[in-house]
Amino acid sequence: MRIAIYPGSFDPITNGHLDILRRATRLFDRVYVAVLKNTEKRALFSVEERYQMLVESTAGMEGVVCETFDGLAVEYARSRGAMAIVRGLRAVSDFEAEFKMATANHHLDPEIEMVYLMTSNEYAFLSSSIVREVASMGGPVDDWVPPCVSRRLKARFSQGREV
Ligand code: PNS
Repeated sequence: MRIAIYPGSFDPITNGHLDILRRATRLFDRVYVAVLKNTEKRALFSVEERYQMLVESTAGMEGVVCETFDGLAVEYARSRGAMAIVRGLRAVSDFEAEFKMATANHHLDPEIEMVYLMTSNEYAFLSSSIVREVASMGGPVDDWVPPCVSRRLKARFSQGREV
C-alpha cells in the first residue's frame, strides 16, 4: 500500500489545498492530511477548528484520513508508514522555503521522498493568508474555499466587527 502524508498549517484549508490533495489521492492509496500543532505562526483558527474544517471539506474523498500532528514531519510520516510527504508548489516564490524543507527532511530521513505537485493554474495565486485577508475585510472568498470554511470565516469576522 502506498501511503503519503500531506502536512500543513491549513489556516484555513483552501480549494488549492483540496486540489493538491485530490491529485495526491490518485498517486497514493492513502493520504494523511494533517494540521501541524506546534507551529510558531500565529493562527486565525485553533488547531481543533482547522482539523474540523479538514474533516468537513474532505468528506467523501476516498483514501483521505484527517489528523493533527506534533513534531517532525518525517517522524509523523514514519509513524503512519508513509513513503512520501506531499506538498503543493505554486510560484517560484514557494521554491526557496520548500527547497530548505526538502533538504532538511532528506537529511532527517533519506527514505522519505518529498513529492511536489504543481498547483493548478486557477489556484496559482491562492494562499490561506490571502483568504484570511480578504475575508477579514468582508470580501468574497466563496470561489477560494469550501462552503464550511467560508461559513466559519464569515462567523469569525462578523464577531470581530461587532466588538
Ligand atoms: O502550510 P505550511 O505552514 O507551509 O506547512 C509547513 C509544514 C507544517 C509542512 C512544516 O512547517 C513542517 O513540516 N513542520 C514540522 C516540523 C518539521 O518537520 N521541520 C523540519 C522540516 S522544515
